[in-house]
Amino acid sequence: MKQESHVTEYHVWDRSVRWFHWINVLCVLGLIAIGVAFINSKALGITDDGKIFLKTWHVYIGYVFAINLGWRLVWGFIGNRFSRWNAVLPFGANYRQQSRAFWSGWKQGKPAAFMGHNPLARWMVMVLFLLMTVMAVTGLVLAGTDIYKPPFGSQFKEWVAESPAMIEQIRPYSDIGVDKEAYKAMRDFRSPFKDTHEITFFILLAAIFLHLFGVIVTEIRERNGLVSAMVTGKKVFKEKPLDKE
Ligand code: HEM
Repeated sequence: MKQESHVTEYHVWDRSVRWFHWINVLCVLGLIAIGVAFINSKALGITDDGKIFLKTWHVYIGYVFAINLGWRLVWGFIGNRFSRWNAVLPFGANYRQQSRAFWSGWKQGKPAAFMGHNPLARWMVMVLFLLMTVMAVTGLVLAGTDIYKPPFGSQFKEWVAESPAMIEQIRPYSDIGVDKEAYKAMRDFRSPFKDTHEITFFILLAAIFLHLFGVIVTEIRERNGLVSAMVTGKKVFKEKPLDKE
């Protein structure tokens, strides 16, 4: 904590949360860019080889995204006070009381100050984590069904192979060694994962815009250094924040 004239600086976001956030931003941007190319692959005239190339890179970025997300989910149990789930999700001790203070400050045009996420932001963050977890799980399954990549690629190869001897011959977008009926059954199994991945993608896009909108509005209304805090870890306040211990 550092006092400078009439503002006080508090350390809020630990290093792990800040790294998670920016790695996540980069991965999500890359995944969206390639995902949008898949959706428009016909219009863009992408060949099968092009699709395999893009899918392979989507999956590589997806691994970084999934590992980073997995680490953040664990960090929610071991990180600093503001990184933990009881300060991130919209439940737990003091949530109701903080929520009342938040909305009454909102109505009076005098925003209540929070070091961690404010009560409304906690809903937003929960939705983002849920949507990203769905993207990671469905994406990891699709990586196996589509281009036979880990963690489930070899199981899907075994499923569609004409015989155990042909497993090693199976390649993306090729029917060599593939049993047609088994392949169709595998595609039927895959279909709900693909639909969920696509629908969740559109919901996630909307949630990302809402998140950006919320951050900009909060930054303008409260001027606590919300955006720079994701780089430096520090926020500044004129008054004592409500969630200061
Ligand atoms: C925020 C994270 C992600 C976003 C925004 C995203 C976005 C997309 C989009 C828009 C598509 C196209 C869907 C379609 O063609 O209908 C797609 C397909 C795909 N995604 Fe992701 N994805 C994400 C995470 C992942 C992860 C973590 C993996 C795996 C490691 C993955 C693997 C795949 C695969 C294999 C496909 C191809 C499915 C197909 O077209 O047959 N994705 N993704």
